[in-house]
Amino acid sequence: MTAGAFLATAQRRVPWLAAPAIHDEVIGGLTASPKTLPPKLFYDRAGARLFEAICELPEYYLTRTELGILREHSTEIAGRLGGRVALIEYGSGAGVKVRLLLDALRDPAAYVPVDISAEQLAAVAAERAREYPALPVAPVCADYTTRFGLPAIPADARRVAFFPGSTIGNLHPTEATAFLRRIRATVGSSGALVLGVDRRKDVSVVEAAYNDAAGVTAAFNLNVLTRLNRELGATFDPSAFRHRAFFNEAASRIEMHLESTIEQCVRVGGIGVRFARGETIHTECSYKYDRAFLDDVVNAAGFRVADLWTDERDWFWVAYLVPG
Ligand code: AVI
Repeated sequence: MTAGAFLATAQRRVPWLAAPAIHDEVIGGLTASPKTLPPKLFYDRAGARLFEAICELPEYYLTRTELGILREHSTEIAGRLGGRVALIEYGSGAGVKVRLLLDALRDPAAYVPVDISAEQLAAVAAERAREYPALPVAPVCADYTTRFGLPAIPADARRVAFFPGSTIGNLHPTEATAFLRRIRATVGSSGALVLGVDRRKDVSVVEAAYNDAAGVTAAFNLNVLTRLNRELGATFDPSAFRHRAFFNEAASRIEMHLESTIEQCVRVGGIGVRFARGETIHTECSYKYDRAFLDDVVNAAGFRVADLWTDERDWFWVAYLVPG
């Protein structure tokens, strides 16, 4: 039997061999105390669709508030960015927000969408190329939180990174600073970053956004267990867990958890994981920023806040960051 055939047979019998990439992280997280899973696991095909549905929910103010700010201030933002801009979008997803900037920019030099989903990236790149026939579109398929290579960008272009959605909030402050430092190195000393940031606000507003009445966020959270069953041959019964989301005041973050409603043992990637009744798996943090917090994270990365745009309720920021 060849090595390839052996591996294929082994993977059929032992499904978690097929996914070594997530296996180690999942086992590491589920054997830690308290138990954790990385939020990137949310975004399989079903999870990506659920996230799109979350963005439409009446309680989930983030997406529509940021879109409103970009719509209202796109000319001013484009003015700060200047003429020949190479716009590098980190986690381009469905690529809706970037159109507001591209429409407002005078003579964009290039659009570089970066995303881990090859399928969505190809569709978004093709769509943008169709909409902006004069604009060079150079997609990069990569996990944008890691180091990745950039395609050739015209030497006269100013490199501007775009990271909307308050996805920065899903990183712990030290991780956020490390990530912004990499962006700072990528855009160089003449570059900039346009960053979407969810602001700290009334707890009831934030908690409602992560506990929607229709249960979409609960389904999004629980979908992780279904994914582990499929990809690692795990034996989670999603009905034996419930979604929990609450604001942690001291850390200024929403925490999402999956709480075991019974005492149970689940097989995951070849090991048994015990849960006490009421024990949780911490699946996500979503940090909410005030100005001092933002300055701390941003300044430590070698940026400074040069401009901030907000909405009429002061719920969200679009920040213009420059090296400094
Ligand atoms: C992607 N990210 C900014 C979302 C957030 O609000 O933290 C993910 C999410 N989790 C639950 N609902 C939405």
